[in-house]
This record gives sequence, structure tokens and C-alpha cells, in this order.
Amino acid sequence: MKFQEIKHIMVLTGAGISAESGIKTFRDENGLWENHEITEVASPEGFLKNPALVQRFYNARREQLKEVHPNAAHKALAALEKEVPKLTLITQNVDDLHERAGSKNVFHMHGELNKIRNIKTGEVKYTTEAIIEKDFSHWRPDIVWFGEMIKHAEQIEKAAQNCDLFLCIGTSNNVYPAAAIVHRALDVGAICIELNLEETPLSSFYHKSIHGRAGSIVPKFTNELMTNSFQLK
Ligand code: OAD
Repeated sequence: MKFQEIKHIMVLTGAGISAESGIKTFRDENGLWENHEITEVASPEGFLKNPALVQRFYNARREQLKEVHPNAAHKALAALEKEVPKLTLITQNVDDLHERAGSKNVFHMHGELNKIRNIKTGEVKYTTEAIIEKDFSHWRPDIVWFGEMIKHAEQIEKAAQNCDLFLCIGTSNNVYPAAAIVHRALDVGAICIELNLEETPLSSFYHKSIHGRAGSIVPKFTNELMTNSFQLK
């Protein structure tokens, strides 16, 4: 398949794409996320047990977001979107680096750091500021915690059903349903390519698996793709 024949690229990104911007991935060598057990800060049970800790944790993440910038991988995807009829970018990341790099058609399946949700009414508000202590029992991060429903399931299913190229970038492929998207894309005959620092449990399902740092391998890949020097099939 030639680049000019591609009608719809679906991209799934995970924490690895933002690592070189300075945002820690979830599964470090020590298995902790910014020194916390993931379940402590990313589950409804963790929130019930210690809401103050969870609120402070996400307040700190929101602050951190102000210090970081999109890297070459985010920018390469934004540039790629401009060159194809359609690109659907599904991210598991709660940061806004894809948008800041210029990507337009972005869906955050695990929510967004800069959105908070009213616990009683469900109202969602955009904010880059901390949730203050008096609001701890009214507002929570609009983030999908373990055991909660993902967001944008319909758009994800639709994209997976009609993409002709599926790129999976910087995710350990440990968390479902995100990790299962490749099977939907394979079902419709899409070419599936994984770009990640290392092998993942699902690497063997992909037509190609490219290993390295996202900031280098993603721009290299998108350039080769656009100039037809990457052998898709
Ligand atoms: P993980 O932390 O599980 O995986 C990050 C992946 O990126 C690993 O496979 C790393 O090898 C790879 N990686 C690290 N640095 C990289 C770099 N510079 N370039 C390329 N790859 C690199 O993160 P996710 O797969 O995104 O959910 O985790 C999925 C979900 O688990 C998250 O969205 C989060 C967490 O629970 C929620 O918070 C709801």
C-alpha cells in the first residue's frame, strides 16, 4: 500500500509517547507511579480510602503539566494528520500534549487531567488549576480509574472498524480494552504497526514492531511513511 492510498489512520498512544517530555510512565521499574501504587491513586477504592491523597496527587500532576512541552513524536503525529484524509488519535494519556502539538482529532479514552467532574451532578469543567480542599468532596479528576468505563468507546469502535493503518505508540499494552484495539483493526485488514521502547505482550500480533524512543522513531517512521520509503506490506 502506498501512502497516497491511505484513507484513515488510527493511532493509539500511551505514556511512552510523553516520557521524553518529562512525564513519568505508569509502570516504572519499581512498579510505582510517581512513588504511589497505581491502585492507590487510580481507583475508586483508593479515592474512597484517602480522597485528600488522591486529590493532591492529581493537583501535582496538573501543576507538572504546566512545566512540560510536546516532543518530536507528538509533533510528528500532528504533522501526519494534515497529510491524510483522516487520522483518529486515541490516547490513554491524560496530558494535553497531543493538542498542544497541534493534533485535532484527539479522544482521551482515560479522561483528562485538565477536566474535573462534579461528584453529585456529573457536570464536567475545564480547569488547569488545583482542586482546593473545600471542594474535595464535590469535585474529582475526570479521569477513568481502574474498574470504571472508558470514554469515547463508540468513536474508538468506529475508527477501528474502518482504519487501513493502525499505529500503537508508547503503550505497554497491559491495560484493556485499549490493548485489544489491535485485534479489531486486524479483523478489518488494517496494517498494524507498533512503536515502543521495548517489546510488549502483544508485539507478535503486529505486522511490524519498531523499538526505540518515541521522540526518534515516530518522526523517522512518519517521514518514511509519507515518502513511501517504509515498506508497509
Ligand atoms: P505504561 O507505563 O504501562 O507503559 C509505557 C510503555 O512505554 C512501556 O512499554 C515502555 O517501555 C514504553 N516507553 C517508555 N519510555 C518510552 C519512550 N521514550 N519512547 C517509547 N516508548 C517508551 O503506560 P500505558 O501503556 O500508557 O490508566 O498505561 C496504560 C494505562 O495504565 C494508563 O492510561 C493509565 C494506567 O493505569 C489510567 O490512569 C486510567
